Amino acid sequence: IQTEALARIEAANDARAIEDARVAILGKQGSLTKVSAGMRDVPKEDKALVGQLLNAARQAITSALDSKKTALQDAQDAEALKGIDPTLPGRSVHHGSLHPLTHIRHEAISILRRMGFALADGPEIEDEFHCFDALNTPEDHPARNEKDTFYFDSGKLLRTHTSSVQVRTMEGQAPPVRIIAPGSAYRRDEIDATHLSVFNQLEGLYVDTDVSLGDLKGTLEYFLHELFGPETEVRFRPHFFPFTEPSFEIDVKLHAKGQAPKWIEVAGCGMVDPAVFDQINGSRKDEAFSPDQVTGFAFGMGLDRLAMIRWGIRDIRLLIENDSRFLRQFG
Ligand code: PHE
Repeated sequence: IQTEALARIEAANDARAIEDARVAILGKQGSLTKVSAGMRDVPKEDKALVGQLLNAARQAITSALDSKKTALQDAQDAEALKGIDPTLPGRSVHHGSLHPLTHIRHEAISILRRMGFALADGPEIEDEFHCFDALNTPEDHPARNEKDTFYFDSGKLLRTHTSSVQVRTMEGQAPPVRIIAPGSAYRRDEIDATHLSVFNQLEGLYVDTDVSLGDLKGTLEYFLHELFGPETEVRFRPHFFPFTEPSFEIDVKLHAKGQAPKWIEVAGCGMVDPAVFDQINGSRKDEAFSPDQVTGFAFGMGLDRLAMIRWGIRDIRLLIENDSRFLRQFG
């Protein structure tokens, strides 16, 4: 029986045949099982010897079954690996990463929130009142020109700056007001390395009973040092905006590798012009923003510019092209 069994196992060449052989030999009706059942009839004095022989046969058969199984599996594995070099390193998975703009927006928001500013927002499709009139911008101001602003037939427009959110916030909320509003702005600019027709701003507004120019300067200097590091040089350059007086543009000194350091404009800011408070009161039909009682400062930063400075990005268009070779660097 043992010889026959071993021969059958040897001949089996797939998992099915091995299993059949096991059942035929060791199964309930298997050849060895039947012989073992005959132990009953073996004379007492021979039982020990016959038992030993049966055990030996069972062991030989079991181990033959095992090694045949292993051999078959190995052969199958080898077949599956043909033409594959299992010693090559695995392919690394590229995990997605935040877009640089998202990254800088999160950082800016988190710094300003620590300073007590709350998030606000407003519509991107605006009317002339919220984008211009309430912000003391005269009818004939160049920014209102059809050459510079996207107008709809309805007379509505795509907001040219996030400053419209200042107006909407003050219409809905009495002082003190301390808000920031990140969002898109639209201008009919010629697109080049530093201009896009859709860009990203972060507006800020602080109105209370004693807000001073010193508060404005301190707040924005602190913000820029938190964002770019304490060594960052910041300069306030006098400028003009219809809705602030005095007004400034803020420059940050950019030290890019292999380039002479240069000043880059990152924001406009100033003390809220009392004429804006008058407009707001007219719109609210109350005197909550009485120019005798409140003062305020406002700022509008270019988020795209902040990202360019932070990472030394030379061309603003890289921010919207979604080239994975560019985006991957921010992982
Ligand atoms: N709205 C101005 C711009 O887009 C920036 C600004 C905001 C200036 C708030 C002063 C106060 O250029």
